[in-house]
Amino acid sequence: MKRYSRISGTGSYLPPHRLSNADLVAELAAKGVETSDAWIVERTGIRARHFVTDGVYASDLALEAAKNALQAAGCTAQDIDLIIVATSTPDMVFPSTACIVQNKLGANGGAAFDVQAVCSGFIYALTVADAMIKTGVAQRALVIGTEVFSRILDFRDRTTCVLFGDGAGAVVLQASDTPGILASDLHADGKYVDILCVPGHVSGGGVLGDALLKMDGQAVFKLAVGVLEDTARATLSKAQLSEADIDWLIPHQANIRIMQSTARKLKISMDKVVVTVDQHGNTSAASIPLALDWAIRTGKIKAGETLMLEGVGGGFTWGALLLNL
Ligand code: UT7
Repeated sequence: MKRYSRISGTGSYLPPHRLSNADLVAELAAKGVETSDAWIVERTGIRARHFVTDGVYASDLALEAAKNALQAAGCTAQDIDLIIVATSTPDMVFPSTACIVQNKLGANGGAAFDVQAVCSGFIYALTVADAMIKTGVAQRALVIGTEVFSRILDFRDRTTCVLFGDGAGAVVLQASDTPGILASDLHADGKYVDILCVPGHVSGGGVLGDALLKMDGQAVFKLAVGVLEDTARATLSKAQLSEADIDWLIPHQANIRIMQSTARKLKISMDKVVVTVDQHGNTSAASIPLALDWAIRTGKIKAGETLMLEGVGGGFTWGALLLNL
């Protein structure tokens, strides 16, 4: 019998400290940085984001999201034999955040590693987990996107610090006789490393170079709207399906204008696009599983529906994944 992988549960977690645009604008004004709620809403669609407080790490957010996903899937940490964490803000240089999450969960013994593909990280991680399950390497995986981007933001740079937030989302993906994940499509083009990066690195006991996020927003925007259409079409073609078969589009939550443009190109109504960027900001690798979990828990998305997940970000990386829930 052919072996497939299916999502059996989702979970997410946002740190309790929520900042509306007004809160952030006031904090930035106190530092001499000028921005406004009107600019942020008009250019991005963001109205609020959550930030961690001191002493809270990516693994802590991941742990809460993972517990929620396990509960939704009706299984325990002991049933998990693979943990993949997508993050660009790991707890440590090494070991992986996945190993730290594994220990906090008490799921010790299975495989655990991180995937680094910035905002496309969750699509990459889910594709890897799907392949490992289909080939019999793993039975039941936790795939997590978790970020504490507030730690790498330059709060003197208004072009980036208003865009991002912290959070985590997780899914349990398990072996199945019926297809869940239908197709996926991954890409990267390393010649665009400089348009979105944190160039600093650890060396000789300190950080060499600038360890804060740098982004050429317009360059990222232009690339994103092109590749998101292409990768969605490539994924549909692999599954021999068309745009009309998509019940829900769950794009990376970076900017409402990018999502509107992608939906327009794919001829998908915005009523079928899951949008959480207004409440979460851009949470990088966490944004897609956060949006997925929110849409399932609020009853928007139902079992049996067909979902197109899409990511794009630093690297430059992009990809899409089509699944039956
Ligand atoms: O997660 C990875 C993927 N990342 C993304 O998808 C981000 C993609 N890029 C974007 O979403 C948009 O490019 C931004 C939201 C980052 C910027 O929007 P934009 O419409 O491209 O604005 P812009 O960079 O062209 O800036 C327009 C103006 C500039 O002023 P001048 O030169 O026209 O006088 C900026 O200095 O807006 C100014 N500006 C701001 N003003 C108030 C930039 N940031 C701010 C701000 N508040 N926070």
